[in-house]
Amino acid sequence: MKQRKNLLILAAILFIAAYFISFNKKNLTTEELVKTKCSRCHHTYEIVKDKRLSRLEWIAILDKMQANGANLSTNEYKNILNYLVENYSK
Ligand code: HEC
Repeated sequence: MKQRKNLLILAAILFIAAYFISFNKKNLTTEELVKTKCSRCHHTYEIVKDKRLSRLEWIAILDKMQANGANLSTNEYKNILNYLVENYSK
């Protein structure tokens, strides 16, 4: 009986660890962050993907999106801006 309880506790710990590892991985990719954050309102990511803008123009877009209610934290804003400039600039 005691062994079975230990096994259950071990399974629970493994489950929680796996959950946090996958959660952290998700947080790590800026691509996923951009896709999640920026397709919330436009429903499609095309609106972002089809653009080729300079850094300044992306800043203007991000500021406009913040005003629209994008609610990005300072870190998210910075990461998303860098990602957009790296991948979608002219
Ligand atoms: C809270 C809703 C919301 C979120 C979140 C959001 N947007 Fe928007 N976005 C809008 C609305 C509304 C419009 C159309 C009106 C406008 O241009 O402000 C728009 C339009 C746009 C346009 C076209 C406008 C132009 O001037 O070319 C781009 C590009 C864009 N969004 C990029 C982004 C990016 C990048 C993100 C992620 C950081 C994002 N949006 C997140 C609401 C949102």
